[in-house]
Amino acid sequence: MNLDEEILIIKNKAAAENFSNAQNVEEFRIKYISKKGEMNVLLEKFKQLDNETKKVAGKKVNELKQFLENLWETQKNNFENEVENTQKIDFSLPSNEQKIGNRHPLKLVEKQMVEIFNRLGFTVEDGPEIESDWYNFSALNFPEDHPARDMQDTFFIENEISLRTHTSSVQVRIMENNQPPIRVIMPGRVYRNEAISARAHCFFHQIEGLYIDEKVSFADLKQTLFHFVNEMFGEDIKIRFRASYFPFTEVSAEMDITCILCNGKGCNVCKQSGWVEIMGCGMVDPNVLKNCNIDPEKYSGFAFGMGIERITMLKYDIKDLRIFSQNDIRFLRQFSE
Ligand code: PHE
Repeated sequence: MNLDEEILIIKNKAAAENFSNAQNVEEFRIKYISKKGEMNVLLEKFKQLDNETKKVAGKKVNELKQFLENLWETQKNNFENEVENTQKIDFSLPSNEQKIGNRHPLKLVEKQMVEIFNRLGFTVEDGPEIESDWYNFSALNFPEDHPARDMQDTFFIENEISLRTHTSSVQVRIMENNQPPIRVIMPGRVYRNEAISARAHCFFHQIEGLYIDEKVSFADLKQTLFHFVNEMFGEDIKIRFRASYFPFTEVSAEMDITCILCNGKGCNVCKQSGWVEIMGCGMVDPNVLKNCNIDPEKYSGFAFGMGIERITMLKYDIKDLRIFSQNDIRFLRQFSE
């Protein structure tokens, strides 16, 4: 085989090489243009030629060298660019969507309730969930033998210490430490030793309200709660009071509102009455004021307490209270502000 033929073979072989990654480019370099590559083998042969033949063949040998180096150079650039391209970051692309949670429905409703009372000048206070007998019962005028102190209703931790059964305990803490005028709402979790069902749980949430000043009357209580109901459920909702009993209020009442699920026409939820009960309320018993060092001759006030679950269930037509604490994401996702 003469040199011309060899040059042609190498050239054709090199031209037919496939390049699909940077590794192929390196393999090409080793095979053709490295020290032991085919180009150098050819050059060795070229050196053996006599001067006359060298003159003719020299040009072709040079052309082949040029061809191989150019090919290697271009392929090298191709794959270098590719690596660069995959590493490039496009800052104009929108970022991945960050999934953030939303408020729990009970918190949503609590927030709404708090905002309504805030606008009436009530400020928010809270208190401990583990309470002494004094704050949960005694200061609130519960007689020694009142059934609410019974093991049936209360989770006792040890003698005289229990989980609070209502947020009324916070009233006492506020009154002990402040003189009127007092205008506070107290949201919080409460505990009762009850069988868990669609309508009752061993823990739930309440919002307590307390307003103490000179000459506060039941009319003030009515007007405040009427305003709350209108803001919360709409202008068409009516309220009614039924006489009731709580040890810490005198007079005491339970307040009903027009059943918002049937508009007062009568349905399963309101047991065909057209009314649903939403809270207990009344005028703070003078004994409670005395227990908290507030002069009942000078001051009077009203208090109310309602279940946040109850309000939320009415508002969203939720039939089973247990769903609030089941952490079912399909339920929770439906509530956004
Ligand atoms: N604490 C009462 C309850 O849990 C509600 C209430 C609060 C009643 C304030 C009157 C005044 O049932």
